[in-house]
Amino acid sequence: MPVEVTWKIEPCLDDLEGFLSRVADACFAAEGIPPCWFSVEIVDGPTIRAVNRETRQTDAETDVLSFPSVRYPAGRTARDCPKRLRAEYDPSVGMVNLGDCILNLGRAREQAREFGHSLTREVGYLTAHSAFHLMGYDHMTDEDRRAMRGMEKAAMRSLKLYRESDTMTDEKLFEMACEAMKNAYAPYSHYLVGACLLAEDGTTYQGCNIENASYGAAICAERAAICNAVSHGQRSFTAIAIAGSGSVAWPCGICRQVLREFAPDIRVIAGQAGHGFTVSSLPELLPNSFGPENL
Ligand code: THU
Repeated sequence: MPVEVTWKIEPCLDDLEGFLSRVADACFAAEGIPPCWFSVEIVDGPTIRAVNRETRQTDAETDVLSFPSVRYPAGRTARDCPKRLRAEYDPSVGMVNLGDCILNLGRAREQAREFGHSLTREVGYLTAHSAFHLMGYDHMTDEDRRAMRGMEKAAMRSLKLYRESDTMTDEKLFEMACEAMKNAYAPYSHYLVGACLLAEDGTTYQGCNIENASYGAAICAERAAICNAVSHGQRSFTAIAIAGSGSVAWPCGICRQVLREFAPDIRVIAGQAGHGFTVSSLPELLPNSFGPENL
């Protein structure tokens, strides 16, 4: 088992060790390293607060704490450091020991309720988050946070535990883009476009192209959807579907750049209404992009 779970309080999930071992394996696979090992200690709020106080001089309850056994050079993660990993080989478990994770079950239960998903999923997510800390990831800067979230998402998606996949499928999102296309105002080009943007919290925002007698004043469907979403207070997005009437509606250059501002890693589902779609991602469509962090 890649994970050993110990409890300071009553366990409440069946086969937690088996489940967290699958989570850990998905994280190692996402990182591209051979299976390793780490311990997971499930505790209550006061216990994690005391650990936080003693080890990090922070007198506050938190959801999860991670204590890596490997010291990673700045900007490096486990896959870059095979030698350092090998040095942590633990013969008693027959694997590399990445360190320890301490998880607050009470906080996990609260967060699961808040996000409207199961306790299993929240405990799985927190363990994945910790696993990536144990592999050298951090979230101090926007860029680091993005890299870490990307890895967490990849691992959770491979376990079919990612939030987006519960409530939304590519097919459904594309269908909503086709629906939005019906409102397109395109008397000049006659090229109708609809878009549907999926926010991190699962909410969707539609948009359509809106042309103008002064041609340059037209707005594309994607940007109409982004304006719609941002006007409702959303800032982070996981996917966008785009449907065109006459051909596959790949997002234009300006829309790619506008997507880049809010969602550099967004999945892009582009197609033609009635003809299906293909799935790609913004980094593929806009490589070496320029964003807020370049300023
Ligand atoms: N259009 C979009 O809505 N999205 C794109 O990414 C490409 C182009 C619209 C703008 C205009 O109303 C029509 O398609 C023809 O260019």
